[in-house]
Amino acid sequence: MSKIILTGDRPTGKLHVGHYVGSLKRRVELQNSGEFDEIYIMIADAQALTDNADNPEKVRQNIIEVALDYLSCGLDPAKSTLFIQSQIPELTELSFYYMNLVTVSRLQRNPTVKSEIQMRGFQASIPVGFFTYPISQAADITAFKATTVPVGEDQLPMLEQCKEIVHKFNSVYGETLVDPAVLLPDNKACLRLPGIDGKAKMSKSLGNCIYLSDTPEDVKKKIMSMFTDPNHLRVQDPGQVEGNPVFIYLDAFCRDEHFERYCPDYSCLQEMKDHYSRGGLGDVKVKKFLNQVIQEELEPIRNRRKEFEKDIPEVYRILREGSKKAEAAAAKTLSEVKQAMKIDYFNDAALIAEQSKKYQ
Ligand code: TRP
Repeated sequence: MSKIILTGDRPTGKLHVGHYVGSLKRRVELQNSGEFDEIYIMIADAQALTDNADNPEKVRQNIIEVALDYLSCGLDPAKSTLFIQSQIPELTELSFYYMNLVTVSRLQRNPTVKSEIQMRGFQASIPVGFFTYPISQAADITAFKATTVPVGEDQLPMLEQCKEIVHKFNSVYGETLVDPAVLLPDNKACLRLPGIDGKAKMSKSLGNCIYLSDTPEDVKKKIMSMFTDPNHLRVQDPGQVEGNPVFIYLDAFCRDEHFERYCPDYSCLQEMKDHYSRGGLGDVKVKKFLNQVIQEELEPIRNRRKEFEKDIPEVYRILREGSKKAEAAAAKTLSEVKQAMKIDYFNDAALIAEQSKKYQ
């Protein structure tokens, strides 16, 4: 069986370092591993509209931002198909048929939907489209026969629900859809990077993000203002490492070689953490080190972005070509689905013969 990746992001803002360590970096590694037959990376604009119906301009503006973030991280259109969800009508058609296989109470139990409803204050006024987006996400994944879906931890409930739809479909209509495997980051700190304010999640609406496209000065300012252990008032005080965002970021970003380059007092992160816990290590020193580590990671991304920004029509061309290719793949799956569901009337010579016999 082919090894196929599908994943994507909603274009509701620029991508940040949480997206990067949670999924983007891994995608680029997977792309370059050469182990996959096909890689589809989707800008999920239709999904973004499920809770931004009154703000299509926001979605429209952010398509290019996300595409630039993808390309600058190293996703290569020669190896990965980058495309826009709304340009693939087959995805909507698949969603409509999958809706028959999912109950309202199952959707209500989806933990991500549940917490997003709370966060957005939707309660009973939840748009039907938003409520059913896990089904549309199952269409995204299955349309490309994805075997591997690299995502952040918050997407786990979507994958579970997708697998249920696959099983249900295959048991009712016969083996048709591919059961996808989720791929989470193996570094625990990367699963969910907190915001610079220490809040559980980096999110645009909380204003606590470091963006991939931030200038070096902005990144530095944000890191130097980061929330740390609030009880670590004087340098000599023992500090807390667990749950301290500065150390969580170091867990996510730093490698031993960074110490040689930027902070030779220590040989590895554990030594630095031990010193912080004992007392005698100030937050400013740790933050300066973190800044150097993150700047090193972001610099090539920033430079590639500048290059792509010079030719925006080319970026749209990449998306258009990718969407064309993606549509062909989705159309093939849709026709298999329709055949399995017995709604391929005009291709079914046996059906036509049988019906004519009945009326002879
Ligand atoms: N829900 C994802 C997000 O919020 C975007 C997405 C849409 C997606 N369809 C997908 C991710 C299919 C993985 C697979 O970023």
